[in-house]
Amino acid sequence: MSSRYREVYGQWQANPEAFWAEAAKAIDWVKPPKKIFDADAGVYGRWFPDATCNTCWNAVDRHVKKGRGAQTAIIYDSPVTNSKRKISYEQLQLEVASLAAVLQDRGVGKGDRVIVYMPMIPEAVVGMLACARIGAIHSVVFGGFAAKELATRIDDAKPKAVLAASCGIEPGRVVAYKPLLDQAIELSASKPTSVIMLQRPQGEATMIEGRDHDWAKLVADAKAKGKRADCVEMAATDPLYVLYTSGTTGVPKGVVRDNGGHMVALAWSMKALYGIDPGETFWAASDVGWVVGHSYIVYAPLLAGATTIVYEGKPIGTPDAGAFWRMIEEYKISALFTAPTAFRAIKKEDPNAEFLKKYATKSLRTLFLAGERADPDTVAWAEKILGVPVIDHWWQTETGWCIVGNPIGLGMLPVKHGSPTVPMPGYDVQIVDEAAKPVAANQMGSIVVKLPLPPGCLPTLWNQDDRMKESYLADFPGYYKTADAGFKDDDGYLYIMGRTDDIINVAGHRLSTGGMEEVLASHPDVAECAVIGIKDSLKGEAPCGFVVLKAGVTKSPMEIEKEIVKLVRDKIGPVAAFKIAVTVGRLPKTRSGKILRGTMKKIADHDPWTTPATIDDPLILEEIEAALKQHGI
Ligand code: COA
Ligand code: AMP
Repeated sequence: MSSRYREVYGQWQANPEAFWAEAAKAIDWVKPPKKIFDADAGVYGRWFPDATCNTCWNAVDRHVKKGRGAQTAIIYDSPVTNSKRKISYEQLQLEVASLAAVLQDRGVGKGDRVIVYMPMIPEAVVGMLACARIGAIHSVVFGGFAAKELATRIDDAKPKAVLAASCGIEPGRVVAYKPLLDQAIELSASKPTSVIMLQRPQGEATMIEGRDHDWAKLVADAKAKGKRADCVEMAATDPLYVLYTSGTTGVPKGVVRDNGGHMVALAWSMKALYGIDPGETFWAASDVGWVVGHSYIVYAPLLAGATTIVYEGKPIGTPDAGAFWRMIEEYKISALFTAPTAFRAIKKEDPNAEFLKKYATKSLRTLFLAGERADPDTVAWAEKILGVPVIDHWWQTETGWCIVGNPIGLGMLPVKHGSPTVPMPGYDVQIVDEAAKPVAANQMGSIVVKLPLPPGCLPTLWNQDDRMKESYLADFPGYYKTADAGFKDDDGYLYIMGRTDDIINVAGHRLSTGGMEEVLASHPDVAECAVIGIKDSLKGEAPCGFVVLKAGVTKSPMEIEKEIVKLVRDKIGPVAAFKIAVTVGRLPKTRSGKILRGTMKKIADHDPWTTPATIDDPLILEEIEAALKQHGI
């Protein structure tokens, strides 16, 4: 089949507003947009400025109204608790409207923030949709973050209420969420007035009188009294959610998503990019705490009237490397979306894909990969074992949907391993030098997107227009800085090679080395430190911390290294996967005092390296090499 991509991209280029006005017809509006884009509003303009709508209506109620009530909306499959459940659109509507009424009873309304701190259970989705229904702004915090990270988010979002579960379940251990939540609320200056706690039998939470309420009881009461909240009319430009993501410091960025543009972009992507029709089953094997979870576990599949999957398990070990194949067979999944690291994990455990032979996976049409660079070996392996197209696509928390991809719904373009293919309509992607001048094909440069960003992308950072401008719009005037570097080939295919800032990508999770350095520096025996991301065959990258100890420290370096590893786990969380701390006598620096992290990374990765001309003392690099060797690197 020939692809319609060029024709469709051309339509967008010729008239972006007409393109998005057409795409907006997929949405039920309260007041349909008359104006499509207002260049003078917001930081760089706003989409659908005069329209009103409700995201929950579009994700749930309208499907019930149009006869999809009995269709499964959410499949919950939890190998870690041995449970499975299906929730129809009609049941989802009841659950969401009842919880929304509970929130209203607790004084939560339009514009109020609600933190959602929950594992991969359907109630997390119900919680998000209940907020959307009444115009409250949810902010989901990933369960693998520690109390301090949660506290930072509470302080910034100032939530009126928290929706939480008593525990999460990781293979072999129950992670009690409640003590982390209590500690976080204690640490934060802003105190939520209500905590609505879903008690899980694997680990029940101790409740604090007055503040904490039992989720199940409140919802049962609301149902018994027939209390259901209606969908509230929202401006298309009102925030739907705030999702915090790593910035270059320990203070995360609150990425804001609006209601209208978000729905339009996601609905367009479900068909044109992922090729999914209503009634089909789409599985994003991620977590609701990440952007992939927000967009492609919760909102996009439900906006499209598809069936989505909430999977509480891992690609391996729950119980084995056949977990994904079982899911595909059992639920007749049409498309799977995950991070390359999941496939690296399966490949490592079962290189000949023996487990795959036990399952019929013929329903699967496409595998989509994103979240980190898809290495050609893993892509080739996945293609070989599954016999379906494997589509890498590139995007960010900030954009909320794909920047560069291969639009299956418009007809697949030829796949080139190592490239996520071409820009989606809405994105004019350019490779530029430091002076914002476009570079020639095949030349590396900074990847930027010409403003305005399309619907769905962040309009700003929560309460921080200036940080938005400074972080993304100041370096390349007229463009959004992606902070990724790469090149375009002669066919216009993009290659994403790495970040230009200190963000690293560990198992598809985005982490700030700057944030980790802040933690290392807080150890009383550490004089100086540097954290870099080093190559890891499973997780893509792994953080590696170097510390210089203060003079007169009597503890052994090994003891301090252990303490540092624990400190990062306690302050940032297990998700940081910080396991390597290396004590060194000094750090390599330029004569002006800049730490030579790039050279340290090359040494740790065993890549060819040369001594930078500006180095203060070249001998230090040999010391670094020796210290890494002692740690088996
Ligand atoms: N709550 C509490 N702890 C969590 C958690 C959660 N929701 N999610 C992860 N953790 C913990 C893990 O248990 C692990 O702890 P450990 O150091 O005690 O082993 C740590 O955080 C690191 O987690 P992770 O990086 O996920 O590693 P893993 O070894 O548990 O699993 C993979 C490795 C590759 C199987 C896993 O990363 C994976 O499935 N990735 C899929 C990709 C993905 O979901 N990407 C998200 C963006 S698309
Ligand atoms: P996040 O905001 O967590 O989705 O992380 C976004 C970052 O992950 C991007 O800026 C890239 O550095 C990286 N990334 C995401 N998808 C890809 C991809 N397909 N190829 C290469 N890098 C990717």
